[in-house]
Amino acid sequence: MSENEIRPIKWSGENLELLDQTRLPREEVTVTVGTYQQAVVAIRDMQVRGAPAIGVTAAYAVAMAARDIEVNGRQEFMAQLEAAACEIAAARPTAVNLQWAVRRMVDLASADGDVDGIPGRLLDEAKRIHLEDEQINRRMGDYGKDLIPDGGSVLTHCNAGALATAGFGTAIGVIRAGWEDGKRFQVFNTETRPFLQGARLTAWEFQKLGIPSKLIVDSAAGLLMRQGKINCIITGADRIAANGDTANKIGTYSLAVLAKENRIPFYIAAPISTIDLSLPDGDQIQIEERPEEEVTHLQGVAIAPEGVQAINPAFDVTPNGYVSAIITEAGVARPPFLESLNLAVVGSTHI
Ligand code: MRU
Repeated sequence: MSENEIRPIKWSGENLELLDQTRLPREEVTVTVGTYQQAVVAIRDMQVRGAPAIGVTAAYAVAMAARDIEVNGRQEFMAQLEAAACEIAAARPTAVNLQWAVRRMVDLASADGDVDGIPGRLLDEAKRIHLEDEQINRRMGDYGKDLIPDGGSVLTHCNAGALATAGFGTAIGVIRAGWEDGKRFQVFNTETRPFLQGARLTAWEFQKLGIPSKLIVDSAAGLLMRQGKINCIITGADRIAANGDTANKIGTYSLAVLAKENRIPFYIAAPISTIDLSLPDGDQIQIEERPEEEVTHLQGVAIAPEGVQAINPAFDVTPNGYVSAIITEAGVARPPFLESLNLAVVGSTHI
C-alpha cells in the first residue's frame, strides 16, 4: 500500500481528523472533530461525504458520545447514548450506511452488561468498521475489475472514490483495480452539479492515481454515449432496496436511462452495508433536499438572479431494470436482484 493513499478519515487517539472535502481541490486541510455534535455538523455540511465515509464518521461519533457521557448507572447511560445516536443518524437521510453504522454501535452497547467498559469497546468497534471498509472496497475492486473492457472507456458520476469511503473507493475502487491489473482505458467523469463532487473530488483522485480521466459537464454524457465513446458506466450508491432499486447522486437515473437506450452496461458498486432489505423497493427511500444556495451559488458567488427559487434534491432512484449488475464484497449480483442481493446480505457469501 503506497504512502500516497488517500485516507479522508483519521482517528488521532482523541479526535477525528477529517480531510475537509468542501475545500478540495484548492486546499488539503483537515478539520478536527472532537465531539459527536461536531461530527453531525461535519456530515451535514459535507466536510465528510459519501455513504461509507459518513458511516465510519458516525461510528466514531457514537464512540465519542459514549466517552463524553458521565456514567450514572446503565439505564441513564443508555438513554443518553440512544439520544445522541438518534441525532447522529439524522444528520443526512438518504445514505443507509449512516444508520447502519449507528445501529451496529448501539446494538453492541445494548448487549454489553459492563457499562464502564462500553466507551472503550465502542471505540474499538468504530476502528473495526473503519478498517473493514477499506478491505471491503478492495474485495469489490477484485470482483468488479473484469467488467471494465480493456482498451475501452468507463464513465463515473459524483465521487465514489477513496474520499467517499475509508480508502480505495467503491466505483473508483473498481476502476482502480482494473487499471492496476494492467488494463488500459479512458475514464470520463461528470462534474456532478450542483456540489461538483466530480469536478472537485473525482478529478483530483484520478490525477493522484495517474489514471487518465476527462471531465465532462453532466449533460454531455448522452452525446458521448450516442457517439460510442462510453463502453460502461460505474457509480456508487447511497441505498439499495431489496429489489435492486438504487438511490445515488442526483443525475444517476438519467445516466442509467441513457445507458439502456444506448445499450451500455450500467453497474453499481456498493458494500453490503448500503443494501437495505427492509425496503421492498426504491419508492420509500427518503431523498435529501439540500439548501437552494447550492444551486443558485457557486462557491459563494451568485450565478442566478437574486431571489430566484430553486429546488435541490441531492439524490435520485434508478429502478432496477436499468441496473446491469451490483458489485459487492460478496461478488457481482445480477438480476433478479431480489434473489442475488438477499444471498449477498443474508449469506454474506460469494454470490
Ligand atoms: O452527497 P454525497 O456527495 O454524499 O453523495 C455521494 C454519492 O452519491 C456517492 O455516489 C455514494 O455515496 C457512494 S460513495 C462510495
